Amino acid sequence: MSKVQSQKSDDGIPSSSIDDRREHNSDQGQPHLPPADIGHWTLDFGLTVTDLRKSFLSPSGERIEVLRGISFSARPGETIAIVGASGAGKSTLLHLVGGIEAPDHGTIRLGEFAVHSASRAELARYRNTRVGVVFQFHHLLPDLTAAENVCFPLVLGRDDRRQAMRSAHEALNRLGLTSRASHRITDLSGGEQQRIAVCRALITAPLLVLADEPTGNLDSISGGLLETELMSYAASRPAIVIIATHNQDLAQRCDRVLTLEAGRIAEN
Ligand SMILES: Nc1ncnc2c1ncn2[C@@H]1O[C@H](COP(=O)(O)OP(=O)(O)OP(=O)(O)O)[C@@H](O)[C@H]1O
Ligand SMILES: [Mg+2]
Repeated sequence: MSKVQSQKSDDGIPSSSIDDRREHNSDQGQPHLPPADIGHWTLDFGLTVTDLRKSFLSPSGERIEVLRGISFSARPGETIAIVGASGAGKSTLLHLVGGIEAPDHGTIRLGEFAVHSASRAELARYRNTRVGVVFQFHHLLPDLTAAENVCFPLVLGRDDRRQAMRSAHEALNRLGLTSRASHRITDLSGGEQQRIAVCRALITAPLLVLADEPTGNLDSISGGLLETELMSYAASRPAIVIIATHNQDLAQRCDRVLTLEAGRIAEN
């Protein structure tokens, strides 16, 4: 049975059911790497997701099967749109792939790293060094400025603070936010916060970017800047960029479109 827990993981990102992954995946027999080592990374580090399932319990005790066997793979440089009705499970899928929530069943591998069976310490490192997540509701730190939020993952990774701040300013410039760098998050609009969240997700040069509805609050000019940033990042890193979206134009600009329906995936 899946328990939903709310807890903070080692990198400060809210996480649920992390400890449950042992319970659900112990039969999948993945060897655990030591905490400081999350696998070897080669140019061909593709993502493979196999038979992923996730359900939640409703307050009345009814089981809601959100993902009923999701399989797909992706390679470096690819952009993939995940589309589907509200409640179809797009955010849930991104949270599983990002190691933020644990699947009930199935495997997720980025390169040699088995996300589905990793320990909390390994997942914290995976999220801080390999994955960039743009959350649907941003999750920026309200007491910090825009630039401080963007460079936060670098500072967390003990990078040089001055260089980290320079990189943050460059990223903000690219998304038209030069004049907002010193503003506190609470003084910024929803669309500005969304662009800051994208800057923060890309700042560590992750191999995998998971962007949840990144253009939801944006006008066409800001949305266009953000699309270009994500697409060119995928091509230049090269990285796998997965975008959950209701924006059909954005979905069509991606290399592939996966549709989530009734807990399963269909490729358009
Ligand atoms: N922690 C949870 N506990 C119970 N149910 C949950 C939980 N998280 C998600 N759900 C349910 O799972 C389903 C899928 O949610 P999810 O957020 O993944 O949908 P989505 O496709 O991202 O929707 P949207 O387009 O509105 O963002 C929804 O019915 C939601 O209510
Ligand atoms: Mg969502």
